[in-house]
Amino acid sequence: YSATEMGYPDWGGGHAGAHGAGIPLDRLTAPADRPADVSMTMVARRQSFDLAPGMRVDGYTFNGRSPGPEIRARQGQLVEVRLVNESVPEGVTLHWHGVDVPNAADGVAGVTQDAVPPGESFAYRFVATRAGTYWYHSHQLSHEQVRQGLFGALVISEAPDVVALVHVYNGHRTVNGLPGAVPVTATGTTRVRVINTDNGPMAVWTGAPYRLVAIDGGEVHGAAVVTGQAVTVTAGGRADLEVEVGAAPVRVELGGSAALVLTPSGDLGQPVPKPGRVLDPLHYGTPATLGFDPDTATRRFEYAIGRRPGLLDGMPGMWWTINGHQFPDVPMFMVSEGDVVRMRVSNGSGEVHPMHLHGHRAVVLSRNGEPASGSPWWVDSLNVEDGETYELAFVADNPGIWMDHCHNLPHAAEGLVTHLMYA
Ligand code: C2O
Ligand code: CU
Repeated sequence: YSATEMGYPDWGGGHAGAHGAGIPLDRLTAPADRPADVSMTMVARRQSFDLAPGMRVDGYTFNGRSPGPEIRARQGQLVEVRLVNESVPEGVTLHWHGVDVPNAADGVAGVTQDAVPPGESFAYRFVATRAGTYWYHSHQLSHEQVRQGLFGALVISEAPDVVALVHVYNGHRTVNGLPGAVPVTATGTTRVRVINTDNGPMAVWTGAPYRLVAIDGGEVHGAAVVTGQAVTVTAGGRADLEVEVGAAPVRVELGGSAALVLTPSGDLGQPVPKPGRVLDPLHYGTPATLGFDPDTATRRFEYAIGRRPGLLDGMPGMWWTINGHQFPDVPMFMVSEGDVVRMRVSNGSGEVHPMHLHGHRAVVLSRNGEPASGSPWWVDSLNVEDGETYELAFVADNPGIWMDHCHNLPHAAEGLVTHLMYA
């Protein structure tokens, strides 16, 4: 059974990879002796479903629907999800996008486990250590399985909030699986957790003043009230907007063709035109401590994205490169536990790339040489435009083998992938 997402050369069984690097197995799994606080079963099927009457999608479902069930946990709870593959012929996995799970629960077919074939199951266990907005998706043939429905929201929360899970199915932009303007009953201070599950960046805006209170599940420090500016949500990324809902509905416009309408009365209000300005997280909020000092870096990496003619699986084309190398000859980034890592990500490839690192979150230090001056801007998914260079820093504190790839999933399938490897 071929279970490899990326078609890497065989490393002798994906599930044993990090263990093979000499890391004790109990570091790679959640505590075995703790009962689960949140436990659920997710059944994956090959199945068509309707977004609205006459809007049929031939795709995949979790528990009979897409998006799959919203998973909610409180900070500190142990989450256990049993994935059952009923009828996904190519196999399926669950990846917890943005959550620093133990490596064995990361759900990357061919790296941390084999894809679960039809008729089999796999149990994921992790502690929900940090409150925030996350999502889950299959990481087997993800450029097809995510697009066709195998994803859902994962919220680790305390405060009242609503989710806006945005996805384009067959050209229809939807929020929480529904096209158009979708009402949700809300009053008072409400946090809207926007999740972009698509391959390109999405603009979000609202007619009302808002505060951008979190990015990728990391709280923004000193988030000031914003008006007349859109927020860019990276592909794979999340942005939490806090708004005040009074008597009038507040429309959160999601890319322009979908909206979540926070409304006490059911009134849908009028579409809000897109503002001309975009909020820059590099200078938003107020500085706060990071918990580590990027100036004490013990590793420095260069991650230069380019493009050149070559062959991929024997196919001629213009393919992505990392530091001039084409998949699978790309370098891995080797770290030791405890390293303070600085990474310069630059893009000279002619297209935007939403870069996503598994198992860690990184803080943005600068963009095109301009230092960050606002709140610590923590990311797991970063929109790197053509011609841009970001400098990031993070602590290597989660042993294993972790993917680092473009979350424009067709780009990942075309080889824009490397790994962070603990040794
Ligand atoms: Cu949502 Cu490998 O990622
Ligand atoms: Cu890309």
